[in-house]
Formats: sequence, C-alpha cells, structure tokens
Amino acid sequence: PLVKELLGLAALEERIRKGYGLRKVIVVPGDWDVSSDTKQELGRAGAKALLSVMEERDVVAVTGGTTLASIAEKLTMPVNAPLKDSWFVPARGGLGESLEIQANTIASGMAKRVGAGYRLLHVPDLLGEEAYHSLVNDPNTQEIVTLIRKARIVVHGIGDAMEMAHRRKLDPAMLQELRNEGALAESFGYYFDQEGKVVHKMLTLGLRLEDIISTEVVIGVAGGKSKAKAIHAVLRFGHEDILVTDEAAANEIVALL
Ligand code: F6P
Repeated sequence: PLVKELLGLAALEERIRKGYGLRKVIVVPGDWDVSSDTKQELGRAGAKALLSVMEERDVVAVTGGTTLASIAEKLTMPVNAPLKDSWFVPARGGLGESLEIQANTIASGMAKRVGAGYRLLHVPDLLGEEAYHSLVNDPNTQEIVTLIRKARIVVHGIGDAMEMAHRRKLDPAMLQELRNEGALAESFGYYFDQEGKVVHKMLTLGLRLEDIISTEVVIGVAGGKSKAKAIHAVLRFGHEDILVTDEAAANEIVALL
C-alpha cells in the first residue's frame, strides 16, 4: 500500500507540474487542514526545496504566515554549503499578522537556523498614502527595499482571499469589494481571481508584482483542501517555479485543471 500511495503522489506532482508549466512540484501526504503530521511534512518539504536552490551570497525574500513558520522550524544548517554570506529579508511590510507569523520574524528565524544574515523592514501593513510616501523617501527604508528587490529567491504562502481579508481585519466595504471582484487568493499582498488576474493590491512596501515576475526562483508553499482554489488562482497567475503542497489540495487542483 505504501508504494501505491507514493506512486499516487508522484503522479499528482507530474500532472500539476505539466498542467501549470512549473519547474518542480512536491506533494506531501495528507491534509494540512486536519493533520498536524501534514503540517510538519509540508514544513520539511518546503525547507528542503528552499535549501536545494540556495547558492552562496543569495538573497531570499519570505512572506509571513503559519506555513512559512512551519518551514522556518524545519530548516537546518546545511553541512557543506555555508550560507553565511546570504541574506534573508521579508518580502513585504508587516502585513498585519501577529508577531510569530510576521515576515520579519520568519526571515530572522530562518537566517539564524542556517547561519545566514538578515535585514528587517520595520513598516506596518496597509499604509495610508501619506505614510507610504514618507517611508518611500526614507533612506533606511530605501536601503532595505533595494535589497529585497534583489532577491533571487522568493518563498511565499498562499491564502484564501476571504480568510486573509478577515485575518487582516479589512473593513466590510473592502470585503464586499473583494467579493464583487471575484478575489479567490491572496499572496504577497495581492488578491487574485480564478483566472490569476490581480484584482486588488495592498499598499505596502517591498516586493512588487514586477519583482515577483522577474524573480529567478519563486517557491509557493500551501496545503489543505480549503486552499485548493486559491492555489489554482496563484498558479494561473503564472509566475511560480516550484510548488510545495499536500495531497488534499493536489487532488482538488488536478480537478480544476
Ligand atoms: O500574510 C502573509 C501570507 O503569506 C499571505 O500572503 C498568505 O495569504 C498567508 O500569509 C498564508 O498564511 P498561512 O500560511 O497561515 O495559511
């Protein structure tokens, strides 16, 4: 039965890889929504995928979220690949998450685990126009934003649009607007519809869509049946290279293909 199950996962990986034109797909067993084992496995697979593409003197930008936190937990010091000249940075500003799952926390935690350096971006989520413009012109902020935009690798989570809108405590009018626009997914501060079209973006500092598009290695990590539509929407956007997901999401995704 084990062999059969493994073959099943390999077949899912290949269908998704071909279907969306990805470089690599990793599917771990189970369902993130209900299994803590799957959370551990997804974290481990995400950590492995990241280490497999890292080079010396790399800049890695990471988002926040519980999935990224589970990856950070599983990162271990590579034996013969010193990463001390590499940098971890948050992909965007605070994004209104609680401290443990903020991009800054994830970036510093990951860096410490692999012996790399880190730089943080101390700006809040959801900036007002005025705050945005003064921060954009602040030299310290500019310096770190420049480094973030040099990232060769981006590792990001994917969320269900409505769930993320609630998690960020967006007001009812905004929620309705997102619903009307058909927002299904949220990733790196952008909301996507089922065609992978950006329907809304949050005003915050860091990576912009054009940076994501030109990033050499974009790694999306997300699992759980409840995230299948969101993952599909982000894959439709078309700029992912590596997807790390779980069996429950993968089974739904192949049905959407
Ligand atoms: O807020 C950061 C973020 O990466 C979002 O872009 C994404 O939608 C969400 O977290 C995923 O969170 P989680 O891994 O907890 O489901």
